[in-house]
Amino acid sequence: MKLISRPEYLAEQNRTRDARMGWWREARFGMFIHFGLFSQLGRNEWAMALEDYTVEEYEKLADGFMPKPGAPREWARLAKEAGMKYMVLTTRHHEGFSLWDSKVNPYNSVNYGCKRDIVREFVDACREQGLGIGFYSSLMDWHHPDGGAAAYDSQARKRLTDYVYELNRELLTNYGKIDILWYDVARPMQTEEGWNSLERNQQMRALQPDIIINNRSRMEEDFGTPEERFEASEGDWESCMTFNGISWGYLDSEQVAPYSYTAQQIMRMLCRVTANGGNLLLNIGPDREGRIPAEAFEPLRTIGRWLGENGEAVYGKRERGWHTVNGLCSNTRKDNALYLWFWLWPGSEATLGGIVSKVSGASFLSTGRPIEFVQDGHRVYLKNMPAKGPDAHANVCVIKLTFDEPMEVIRGSYRPALHQGFEYMPKA
Ligand code: GLC
Repeated sequence: MKLISRPEYLAEQNRTRDARMGWWREARFGMFIHFGLFSQLGRNEWAMALEDYTVEEYEKLADGFMPKPGAPREWARLAKEAGMKYMVLTTRHHEGFSLWDSKVNPYNSVNYGCKRDIVREFVDACREQGLGIGFYSSLMDWHHPDGGAAAYDSQARKRLTDYVYELNRELLTNYGKIDILWYDVARPMQTEEGWNSLERNQQMRALQPDIIINNRSRMEEDFGTPEERFEASEGDWESCMTFNGISWGYLDSEQVAPYSYTAQQIMRMLCRVTANGGNLLLNIGPDREGRIPAEAFEPLRTIGRWLGENGEAVYGKRERGWHTVNGLCSNTRKDNALYLWFWLWPGSEATLGGIVSKVSGASFLSTGRPIEFVQDGHRVYLKNMPAKGPDAHANVCVIKLTFDEPMEVIRGSYRPALHQGFEYMPKA
C-alpha cells in the first residue's frame, strides 16, 4: 500500500469527514461495553495495574472467562431498546486479552475459557439490531512483553507497534464493515510518530474506507472523546460516561446501585450533549458471565420508551446553542424548532423569556397536542396546560416551539449587562 504524507492524509480526511460522520451525527446515543477478564474481579478494569498483579497471576483469569451463551445479543437488545444507535466493545482492554480469534495474540477468548469469538458474536448481534459497530482497541498493553520497554528500546517499540497493527488489521479485516475504531491510552509512547499512527490509521482506512476514528492515537482524527465530562469542542465530539462515576468494568450491582444513574440523570446528559452538538456513549460493564448489571435495565428501558415519543428532540444533526428560556427546563433546537425539556413541571401555566422570533406553534412533543400561547415582546405565555406533567415515562415533558423563519438568537433579555445596545429590545 502506498502511504501518503501527513498533510495529504489530513486533507483527505477533512474532505471525506462529513460523508463518513453523517450517520454518527444523527445517531447521538451509543452504548459502550467494557468486558474482559477484569469483569470477573469486579474491582475496576484497571485492577491488574492498580493491584500490581504479575502477568502470570493475572493470566489465570483467562480460563475462567465464561460469558454465558448469547450475552452480546442481550447487550445489543438492550441498546436497541434504550434508543441507542451504535455500540462500542472493548475488543482488547489494557490487560491485553483479545476477545476474538487472534492469530497474533494467543491470549484470547478462543484459546481460553469459553473458547468463543466474542467479537464475532458482538458484530452479529449489532447487525441483528441494526446498530452501528465500534471496536475499542487499547494501545497500551500490560500483557505484551514490550508493553513498557517500547518507550525506550527501538526494537521493542517496533515489535509492539507491529503487534498493534496486526491486531487491528485482524479486527478490521475479518468482521465485515466496521463503523468506528475507538483507540484508547496511547502509552508508553508519547507521540504520533512513536505509535506510527499516521501509517497505521491510513492502513486501517484502506481496509475500511468509511470508518471513523477517535482522537486517542495521538492524532485528532474524526472526533474528540471527553471522558466522564461534557466538553463541547469545535469539531465532532462524544462524551463517554461510566454508569456510576466509579468504574467502566463491572462492580457489585447491589453496592453500586446508589451511585448509578437514573433515567432522569441520563436524560440530562443526553440533553446536554445534544444541545452542544455531541454524542453520548454510555457505558455498561457486564458481569463475569456477560450479564447486564441489574441497575442498568430500568433506567435504559425508561429512556428508550421516552425517546420513542420524544426522540425528535435528540436525534439528528442540530444547531448548537444553549438558551435557557425558563428555569425549569433546558433546550435543544433543530431547524425551526426549539425543544424545551421540562425537568420539573411548571403547572398549568409557564412563562418563557428571551424569545425574540415569532412563535408559530407550541405543542407537547410526545403527543403533538397543541398548547395555547400568547407572545408579548420577548415573552411567551403558555396557558391551560395540565396541572401535572403529562409525560408517562420519566416525568420529563418536552414542549416544542416552532417558528416560521429560522430562529433568531434567543436569550433571556433581563440581564442588565446585556441591555446596553441589545438590538432586540422591543421598540418603544
Ligand atoms: C480510560 C481508562 C479505561 C477506559 C477508558 C474509556 O482511558 O484507561 O479503562 O476504558 O478510559 O474511555
